[in-house]
Amino acid sequence: MEGRVYPSRLLLLDWYDHYARELPWRENPEPWPVLLSEFILQQTKMEVGLGYWKKMYKRFPTLHEMSISTLEEVMLLWQGCGYYARARNLHKLSVIISSRDPPIIPSDPKELEKLPGIGPYTSAAIASISFEVPIAAVDGNVKRIFSRLNAIEHPNSTDVQEWANISLDENRPGDWNQALMELGAIVCTPRAPKCNSCPVSENCKARFTDDPAKYPASKRRSSTKVNGHALVISSPEGIVLSQRKGSQLGGLWGVPITEDPNGLEALCIDHKIHSPEKVGEIHHAFSHRDFHLQVWKVDVLKGGIRSDSVPISRLDQRILDAAGCGES
Ligand code: ADE
Repeated sequence: MEGRVYPSRLLLLDWYDHYARELPWRENPEPWPVLLSEFILQQTKMEVGLGYWKKMYKRFPTLHEMSISTLEEVMLLWQGCGYYARARNLHKLSVIISSRDPPIIPSDPKELEKLPGIGPYTSAAIASISFEVPIAAVDGNVKRIFSRLNAIEHPNSTDVQEWANISLDENRPGDWNQALMELGAIVCTPRAPKCNSCPVSENCKARFTDDPAKYPASKRRSSTKVNGHALVISSPEGIVLSQRKGSQLGGLWGVPITEDPNGLEALCIDHKIHSPEKVGEIHHAFSHRDFHLQVWKVDVLKGGIRSDSVPISRLDQRILDAAGCGES
């Protein structure tokens, strides 16, 4: 790792002490609130994630509280936050730990990694922030900072990990990891980095190029296009909803959908309805799938449930809104 640029510990930690955002779990980084924050922030930005954290922590101030609640309730609170596997894993984790003697969140990163929903990043984040274990947590922010300080367009994970291990301040590992994340989130941002406010820009190689934001080179992610139909069957009693299966929206409730562009007729036959009216179209992008759905509606005399009585995804909320049936 000779020749690499490393951030100055003194300068970065001093900057963190002055400019870090005040976050509720930072004051007293107990394992449960920190674990909750890490699950939420895995795939949700702070501005949105903080609201979910507050809502969840208020309802579940301890891991035990979550372990005795239902998955359904956790999903209801998680509604709209996306990547619902996180909520399922969180509930499962709470049940697993509660059944142990003693029922405590482990401090050993290897033990943490055995729990559902915890990979190397989350394990290192919890271990360092809550238990001061000297271990580097590498997320997208850290990778970007490595890439820019060293002007490496295509950083490889092994190099980033090695660089992060060497960079780590072993006296304040939790603050160090959070300082890098914080720098990536508010200064060394993906677009338009604020190099003039950066505490470690002095030796940054990207800063002196014509466009620091070009590091790291962006990956083109191809999404699968899905053209299909959604069917809103509405009665005075509510909307026909069923629990979805699968890793993406599994556990949430939704209207009948077909991912086959020619599948509307079969969908109607399956649900014993005919002559639905086209009421709109929805574009909805998931991480790897771009949904383009025609939304159809039909009124029936009875059946269905209130859509605000069960957890539903943003996609389904948008479908219901298009059909004029959104409760909220
Ligand atoms: N992203 C994930 N965890 C974080 C933390 N503790 N501080 C800032 N950003 C984060």
